[in-house]
Amino acid sequence: MTLSSHTLTLDEEAKISARRIFSLIANELQQVEIEFERQARSNVQVIAYLADYLRKSGGKRVRPALTILSNYAVGGEGNRYNSIRMATVMEFLHTATLVHDDIIDKADTRRNRSTVNALYGNETAVLLGDWLYMSAFETSLAERSLPILDILTSVTRKMTEGELLQLTLLSHADVSEAQYLDVLRRKTAYLFSASCEIGAILGGATEAQQTALRDYGLNLGTAFQLIDDLLDFTSSEAALGKAAGADLLGGKVTLPLIYLRESDPSTLKLIQQVLSERSYQSVSQQHLLDALAQTNALERARAIADEYAENARAALECLPDSDYCDSLRSLPTYVLNRDR
Ligand code: IPE
Ligand code: IPE
Ligand code: MG
Ligand code: MG
Repeated sequence: MTLSSHTLTLDEEAKISARRIFSLIANELQQVEIEFERQARSNVQVIAYLADYLRKSGGKRVRPALTILSNYAVGGEGNRYNSIRMATVMEFLHTATLVHDDIIDKADTRRNRSTVNALYGNETAVLLGDWLYMSAFETSLAERSLPILDILTSVTRKMTEGELLQLTLLSHADVSEAQYLDVLRRKTAYLFSASCEIGAILGGATEAQQTALRDYGLNLGTAFQLIDDLLDFTSSEAALGKAAGADLLGGKVTLPLIYLRESDPSTLKLIQQVLSERSYQSVSQQHLLDALAQTNALERARAIADEYAENARAALECLPDSDYCDSLRSLPTYVLNRDR
């Protein structure tokens, strides 16, 4: 058997699947931008200005895409405005978490722009994040749906728990894989899950479809954050639009380092050294990257992301075939192979 002469690189594959997924709902995502602009209006000038600054900074818009695709995949196409409004609410919630996360992580750059905290200080960023959270809830009230409110309050609580748990584990070189995954699920995966489930509810999904999309989102979101943590080692600030190589310096011990430490216990000292100095002073970054390469720690972490992506795909089995379902099926490929 011969292999095709043009084997796609992972990057090409990711770009092609992203184009296919996002062009299918390009119209809807355009409306999300308009709706975001509408929801970001405020009589308070500073809020209107900053919310607009955040909207214009872009972002991949993965969560609103999930709400819309999940909605359409269960036959919700007839009721477009509701899904666009809720898709925008999910992006608002995500934006609020980013604004607060950048304060916590002392991050200066996101989406190739200065963060709100870097430009205007933590005080302004805390309040803006609060405003975004509450505006998201206010808009969601228009649905008059207790099940949706239930999901939104629970996911917001979980995200806060995730960030708080992460703080308690900061600088712990011996963090376990279970602790790491617990934080990851709370801070990222549940919002993916909620984005899918809310789209499903609005689309009149059966109970089985709603459960399937909830599971799909949870698995996809887990893969997404695992890859985010890998990209922190393998990518650059130019590609990511945010700091690279920043997690360990910020005290976060992610899965590749957990695997490194497990396969070569002598590396625990290296990790502890970087954590205590909060810089690559005694231990160089290259030294750590070499150790990661020698122990296949990055590959092992990627294999775990692959498993979650596969579980996400498998969760979709009970959905009827459609272009929207196909897009949901290709999202894991995009998530795994993305470079930002
Ligand atoms: C960043 O999310 C926060 C994580 C959960 C890793 P995204 O990577 O979706 O950020 P934007 O919206 O595209 O900037
Ligand atoms: C993302 O965690 C979790 C959020 C809820 C924002 P990270 O701290 O890894 O996200 P980035 O890398 O800053 O986007
Ligand atoms: Mg961060
Ligand atoms: Mg990160």
